[in-house]
Amino acid sequence: MGENNGIDQPISAQGLPLPALDRRKFIAGLGGAAVLATMTAEQKADALEAHLNETLTTAKKTFPTVAQVNAQINTRTYRRGVGKLFAGQEGNVGYLPDMPAKPTLTDFIRLRLEGSRDHCLQSAHLAKSRGMDEEIILACLLHDLPMSLMRSEHGFWSAQLFEPYVSEKITFAIRHHATLRFFPDEKAGYEYPDLYRNMYGEDYVPPAHVQAEYKMVRAHRWYMLPRLVTVNDLYSFDPNAKVDLREFEDIIGRHFRQPREGLGFDGSNIAHMWRSISNPDSPL
Ligand SMILES: [Fe+2]
Ligand SMILES: [Fe+2]
Repeated sequence: MGENNGIDQPISAQGLPLPALDRRKFIAGLGGAAVLATMTAEQKADALEAHLNETLTTAKKTFPTVAQVNAQINTRTYRRGVGKLFAGQEGNVGYLPDMPAKPTLTDFIRLRLEGSRDHCLQSAHLAKSRGMDEEIILACLLHDLPMSLMRSEHGFWSAQLFEPYVSEKITFAIRHHATLRFFPDEKAGYEYPDLYRNMYGEDYVPPAHVQAEYKMVRAHRWYMLPRLVTVNDLYSFDPNAKVDLREFEDIIGRHFRQPREGLGFDGSNIAHMWRSISNPDSPL
């Protein structure tokens, strides 16, 4: 941190080498130094990543190779697959607020899933503003939330966590969105993101099981469900344009079956996952 505010180093949130940053332009884009001072380390890292991604679309593009990405592994105190709720990426982790006795989805989003919340709110807001179906809007709202728990294979973790409480279509959309992110569909309005060229390396080829999943989903009658999640999967970060969770209260009420006992206590076979999110400080 220190006098440079921790944001002008040309290294992505994933610890990858990135092009030099025009620091003044970046800070101005956030709304100035005053706004910057109110941002958490995570928000700064996300903003930096989004800014660099944007810059890369106009500047001369340089991306690391898969070998360069892999060479970064032992430069971090955490592994890239772990959720931000469990591993501080900069400094120590903080104290967490208490959870209510019967926590709802909204409680989890407010009190535990901060690291993945804003991106999901923005995606859902975009889907809503485009007049998409409520199930797509909810899929967008939920799609990356469990990344606070686990980033690696997050489409599957997300789908599993929400499966008992949402429709099969929403589960399908969430489960497969992550794989569709690797496969462009320009007709549907989705291009391969430069962000991935940075995160995975420009010569990255998805492994066989991901290719097979794509093939299955591409031919599936519900293909457009996860595809629409990717189309609204925005990484823009604007601290001045906060999306309010209350905007989606009605949609959550209509499409998310909140268990009476509270998430984590309904006896479902994934209830422990909610309890892990609730109590990430528990040693066992
Ligand atoms: Fe995702
Ligand atoms: Fe996403």
